[in-house]
Amino acid sequence: MLNIKHLLISSVLLLLVSAKTTKLPSFLHICHRSDPHLNDCIKKSVEKLRPLLSKGIPEFGIPSCEPLRIPEVVIDQGAGPVSVKSIYKDIKVYGPSDFTLKHVKIDLDKNRVRIKVWIPRLELISDYTMDGKILMMPIQGSGTSHGNYTNIDATIIMQGQQIKKDGDVYFNVKDFYVDFNIGHASIQLDNLFNGDKELGEAMNLFLNDNWRQVSNEIKPVLEDTIASIFKKFSNKIYHKYPLEILLPK
Ligand SMILES: *[C@@H]1O[C@H](CO)[C@@H](O)[C@H](O)[C@H]1NC(C)=O
Repeated sequence: MLNIKHLLISSVLLLLVSAKTTKLPSFLHICHRSDPHLNDCIKKSVEKLRPLLSKGIPEFGIPSCEPLRIPEVVIDQGAGPVSVKSIYKDIKVYGPSDFTLKHVKIDLDKNRVRIKVWIPRLELISDYTMDGKILMMPIQGSGTSHGNYTNIDATIIMQGQQIKKDGDVYFNVKDFYVDFNIGHASIQLDNLFNGDKELGEAMNLFLNDNWRQVSNEIKPVLEDTIASIFKKFSNKIYHKYPLEILLPK
């Protein structure tokens, strides 16, 4: 009887001890802030996360990013060359994990990380409804939207701050900025104008001829949406381990 009691107590103690020592998962590649090649080290850490980004990290509540799923994006522009109300639902973005890291720069004093990536190709599929005017042309429809975006340069800036929690210092991403530069886009909106084939085809041709202007108008909303998704994901990792463990001296 005493032995079982002992065993129980010691296993509870063991559990408590292991919970306190916060064992790091193997996918976290740790860099030291004194590392003279800190930027390269962080580049490696991000590279190491790539396979996990496509699979997702369930223990961190991070879903698969291949495809990246965005529940809804609403664009409601009253003025300018693109004045439409459009709603994209159940957006699936294929290709984000295929990025090439071009550049990583960490500024320890300012708690800021700047990352440049290149993505060869993104394919977006979603449901859409749209009503308004694009470059003076009336547009209206609802159905499936397809888009292929190639040769994308993206700049990401993570502005963080250090916060205290239970006596430890943690990194918190306060602002996450994403800026895209798209090399080429090809779009297809199915079922425009209640399925009128001729009008729909003409409109799709028109949209593709003017893809840059069209995507420039919707770009800011997409950038903000993607930024807020990745801000949430990064904080799920940063809030789990003290800065002293993630970025030791
Ligand atoms: C996007 O690319 C896929 C695969 O190459 C192709 O099947 C599809 O037709 C393309 N869609 C558009 C809108 O260009």
